[in-house]
Amino acid sequence: MTTETVTLEKIVALCKRRGFVFQSAEIYSGLNGVYDFGPLGTLLRNNIKALWLKHMTQWPEEVIQMDGSILGSGQVWKASGHLENFSDPMVDCTNCKKRYRADDMDLERPCPSCGIKSWTDVRQFQLMFETNLGAMADSASKAYLRPETAQAIFINFKNVFSSCRVKIPFGIAQIGKAFRNEITPKQFLFRLREFEQMEMEFFCKGETARHFFDMWIERRRVFYQDLGIDLNKLRVRPHAADELSHYSRGTVDYEYNFPFGWKELEGVANRGDFDLTQHSTHSGKELAVFDEETKASYVPHVVECSLGVDRLFLTLLFDAYHEDEVEGEVRTVLRLSPKVAPIKAAVLPLVKKLNEPAEKLYQALKAAGISTQFDESGSIGKRYRRQDEIGTPVCLTIDFVTLEDNCVTARNRDTLVQERIAIDRVVDYVLAMQR
Ligand code: GAP
Repeated sequence: MTTETVTLEKIVALCKRRGFVFQSAEIYSGLNGVYDFGPLGTLLRNNIKALWLKHMTQWPEEVIQMDGSILGSGQVWKASGHLENFSDPMVDCTNCKKRYRADDMDLERPCPSCGIKSWTDVRQFQLMFETNLGAMADSASKAYLRPETAQAIFINFKNVFSSCRVKIPFGIAQIGKAFRNEITPKQFLFRLREFEQMEMEFFCKGETARHFFDMWIERRRVFYQDLGIDLNKLRVRPHAADELSHYSRGTVDYEYNFPFGWKELEGVANRGDFDLTQHSTHSGKELAVFDEETKASYVPHVVECSLGVDRLFLTLLFDAYHEDEVEGEVRTVLRLSPKVAPIKAAVLPLVKKLNEPAEKLYQALKAAGISTQFDESGSIGKRYRRQDEIGTPVCLTIDFVTLEDNCVTARNRDTLVQERIAIDRVVDYVLAMQR
């Protein structure tokens, strides 16, 4: 069987069964569009973020990091254009009161929920979550949860530039939570109200922006290749002029072929000098930099790479999920790249009598910083299946021969090949799989 059999329902069930993802506040019947991540989900997310950061910082140009606040003042979001433009078209059914995103609906047809065709006018719905700072709930105390991490980078551009001795071109990368009051959160982790973004804003001279735009599009492909994503299911789609965001001079989406169609995974945008110019105008602060070559000041342009942790998490699960037949039995296997797999190795003593040497190996792997599971219950076949289902690249079995030859049997998740490895080589063996 192939990945064609993968469905959203199977992914959701696996995530819950094996401790990747839980509906938030599930015991109180859940919070729509909000999820909690269990132990394996947390490990997978951390590995995704670490690999993203490596791919941002491994190139010749400097990319440094920052960590901005989640709460932002209305002034920031006014200058960025979000207060005016960051909304989705919304429509209600006057009969059953169900609310929809108008651009998801064919308004010539009846409501899918009650079957009656009676729509309100289409209105714009502001997607930012609003709150108040302090005890007074008035317009002066109004603040917003950030709908993207990027603005924290723009408003701190001068702080970073003048405190970190960086030269243009350079980038600032940030990973952090973002919030959008989506009208219809859907498809599990695909469209959430609380999610995490990995964004990198690359500052350059205007005349080089096109070059860096193309360069980062290609660098993102290298990232997806390194992650082992099926490149036949990934495509780059340039935005048509009428779908460009208010800040963009050119955007391409990396799209993935999900079971529910080709959808945006990541956006790479040439934001021009829109952001720094807007913040300079609204704050009255000079955000231009001085060019030693031309002896003139200029406002840097920005190329942005913006990717959701959760959306990539979901993509990886879809991409890695396979059902195949092993020894006459269907097994579910997550063929996650060892670089991001939550558990890198499992130690399996053949019988309980062998727990002591197995425990020694387990502790050695943990001491080397390798995320490892010790699994002693059930038949070896059952234990292999358990590890396959969570994407563990290798299982290490300790048997009675181990006591004589100091070797373990390493069983590869994907090839099912088994080989004997000397115990003192196991740490290097497991680390080598992640390179
Ligand atoms: N700074 C640009 C920006 O935020 P975006 O296309 O709105 O652009 C970038 O978002 C990425 O963030 C998307 O490609 C997606 O991966 C992720 N994302 C956006 N909205 C999301 C949501 N509601 N739930 C999960 N991920 C989301």
